[in-house]
Amino acid sequence: MNLGQVYTKRTIADYMVNLFTIVDGARVLDPCFGGGVFIESLLANTNHKVQGVEIDKDSFDKFTNPNSARCQLLNCDFFDIEEEFDGIIMNPPYVRQEEIDAMAELGVTKQKLQSACGLMTISTKANLYMYFILRAILLLKDGGELIAIFPNSWTNTPVGKQFREQIGHYGCITDFINVTGDPFVGSPMVDVCILKFKRNTISGTNYQKMLVKGETYTVVESSNEQTRKQDGLVKLHTIANIRRGVTTGANKFFVNPSLFTQDHLIDILSSPKDFYGYTTKKCKQDKLLVIVSEKEANDEELTYLENCAMVILKEGKPQTLKTLIENGQNWYSITMPPSAQIIFSYIIRNNIKFVLNEGGRNVRDNFYMISAKTENPLLLMALLNNYHVFLQLEKCGKTYGKGLLKLQKYDIDAIEIPHPSLITDEDKQDLIRFAENLIATTDEEIVTNITNVLNKYYGTENAQQEFENSKQERLSNHD
Ligand SMILES: C[S@@+](CC[C@H](N)C(=O)[O-])C[C@H]1O[C@@H](n2cnc3c(N)ncnc32)[C@H](O)[C@@H]1O
Repeated sequence: MNLGQVYTKRTIADYMVNLFTIVDGARVLDPCFGGGVFIESLLANTNHKVQGVEIDKDSFDKFTNPNSARCQLLNCDFFDIEEEFDGIIMNPPYVRQEEIDAMAELGVTKQKLQSACGLMTISTKANLYMYFILRAILLLKDGGELIAIFPNSWTNTPVGKQFREQIGHYGCITDFINVTGDPFVGSPMVDVCILKFKRNTISGTNYQKMLVKGETYTVVESSNEQTRKQDGLVKLHTIANIRRGVTTGANKFFVNPSLFTQDHLIDILSSPKDFYGYTTKKCKQDKLLVIVSEKEANDEELTYLENCAMVILKEGKPQTLKTLIENGQNWYSITMPPSAQIIFSYIIRNNIKFVLNEGGRNVRDNFYMISAKTENPLLLMALLNNYHVFLQLEKCGKTYGKGLLKLQKYDIDAIEIPHPSLITDEDKQDLIRFAENLIATTDEEIVTNITNVLNKYYGTENAQQEFENSKQERLSNHD
């Protein structure tokens, strides 16, 4: 059975132990101590209380506890550990998902691993070390630190991206060290990283490179452009549902149809010109004909639909509706999505505006609909109406005709915002108050105030200036 037994060099273990910034005397766990290199280093270099876990009986028996007053060793499965720790340090076992089932005789099954990682979504392709890291993060106290060395192969894969997003919900990666050379005894692996993660805190990531030669190593700052990236940020689509408004396929038949009967006409907001400011509270609405099946249609509506069908067949367009009519299928029913908290017109000239959908308006496909049911919509309004977000949109949107900026669904999905759970209560209160004022007054100075509150989460103070420059450039290219 492959237990992923690869051993860390003592010099590297010392380097990793020295990355801890937890208080003296803190409780630190090595969940898979193997030959005990981290245990020895912790006992030699710190005053922390140490706990070691190792599933393999042979490895456990071979290692003698160097200091039983400060160190406790257990021969068990890490996934049975329930206590919380100030620090966790590890070189987790590298076991591919296909091999995990073979560990069942030691009580390790994928089902157990999944349930130990709680609500986190983990790809079935995940290697055992990913479960170790996720579980370790869950066992950290507030402000607790995880330091782990493991293969780097995950970083650019979809599984890796999901993994990074998951851990971003619980805190941030404060240090990321790319290791080349050989940090392990023997030469079992090529591409490895050391990661330091801090629970429930917000900070940028310090990227470095380590080159290991024999027993020595050098560490240098990495010029990697990711240096500027903040790890408390998440993509909007991970916390919100984003979709286009209602598409009719043929507005002239469905929007404001000439019907006397009003049985199946519902209100719908069609254009950003039909309201003012940051709320849809007072707005002009159109009427949309929504008939689900022929059975519910009245006589006037049936005649109307027949006439429309004739026009579509005669004109030969829209093609999709024509085909449905020719095949005798239901061509007229429109699916109405549930209304959203916030709407956003994706064609922009001057001002970018995310608008509170007061009154729960139905909206046409000139808008995106954004909802995060678990968040206060006013907080979401503030997280979207600021120059950090506007700058991202300026940079990714496609300009089209007359300097207009057009945003695709994937642009909106990819907007990076601070994860709401990482925003302090005080900042949340300020953001909500600013959002209320913005809606009440439409004073754009408030967008600056919101931006300033969020500066520390994005790690930059220049968003507004950068946005203005970028927007100016777009508009001047077309004036
Ligand atoms: C990559 S080795 C690291 C050993 C040591 N910490 C080092 O860096 O030299 C991983 C260790 O995890 C142990 N292991 C594997 N699955 C485990 C589990 N579920 N619980 C505890 N230990 C486990 C293996 O037996 C192996 O000793």
